[in-house]
Amino acid sequence: MIKEEWVHKGFVDELIDKDINLRKEIDKLRKEKNAVILAHYYQEGEIQEIADFVGDSLALAQWAAKTNADILVLCGVHFMGETAKIICPDKKVLVPDLKAGCSLADSCPADRFAQFVKEHPDHTVISYVNTTAAVKAVTDVVVTSTNAKQIVESFPKDEKIIFGPDRNLGNYINSITGRRMLLWNGACHVHEQFSVEKIVELKKQYPDAPVLVHPECKGAVVKLADLVGSTAAILKYAVKSDKKDFIVATESGILYEMRKQCPQKNFIPAPPEDSTCACNECNFMRLNTIEKLYNCLKYEYPVIEVDADIAKKAVKPIQRMLEISAKLGL
Ligand code: 13P
Ligand code: SF4
Repeated sequence: MIKEEWVHKGFVDELIDKDINLRKEIDKLRKEKNAVILAHYYQEGEIQEIADFVGDSLALAQWAAKTNADILVLCGVHFMGETAKIICPDKKVLVPDLKAGCSLADSCPADRFAQFVKEHPDHTVISYVNTTAAVKAVTDVVVTSTNAKQIVESFPKDEKIIFGPDRNLGNYINSITGRRMLLWNGACHVHEQFSVEKIVELKKQYPDAPVLVHPECKGAVVKLADLVGSTAAILKYAVKSDKKDFIVATESGILYEMRKQCPQKNFIPAPPEDSTCACNECNFMRLNTIEKLYNCLKYEYPVIEVDADIAKKAVKPIQRMLEISAKLGL
């Protein structure tokens, strides 16, 4: 029996027979166990390649809601696995590495957020999907970067709203909807580090290149954007556009699918402030590897569990998001 600490220390990778073809074995296991592999666009290319489905946060939740597989392997971060487990409490939900967390979700501890909500009892609470189940449990409706604008706009203009935890997404939604939502002061360490100056420099070099920006980026970067959108929206824009060069300000994993779908186009990752790091890679997302994916399917470990009371409360705002998104055709 595989033990949690082995997985965390990476010992299980050493148990893999070096001669096996991981892709073939993963495929065999998934069929034997009626499992589906869902991957976020920020995963390594080889994980995206083997996944049954690759998508953004909304699409992953929508997929989880409609699959009849017995096992869901969520190649993404912890909150994505939790969301899938809350949607499908009777299914086994696995993530290749349980340590794949999220700095944005971490910037919103559930006890402090619950206190903030308590201090504003007349407010509707809208939370980004990048939150723990306990934060979702004190939320009225969950949003992702794909549907945040439309869901906020589904409330009356004078509705008092708390929006958490991403201050950049919140500020952006306030600016395009004219709302004055009360914002939680959280952020993602990957999206916050893109350099305005370096993007401006790149624009001089590629004056025709649209700048595609994820709304988790700082306001000053968002101001430079030709498109502000989720990973799926960024991809869609690039596919449809007749431009050749694109400057992309989001986690660099998305470039894999962009280059795959548009091999003739040139995708330039927006540079981070610190040019000595690969800070446009999410270190949490990259904890998942093809070896861990294989082990996770083989040993059905690590499993995502959500406290039953929390799940009972958290499922409502997630279902509400799925229902509104379906009505909006998202
Ligand atoms: P989307 O998947 O909604 O584009 O969000 C990106 C993200 O940061 C996921 O962690
Ligand atoms: Fe969280 Fe940012 Fe990583 Fe997305 S890119 S999982 S928001 S830390």
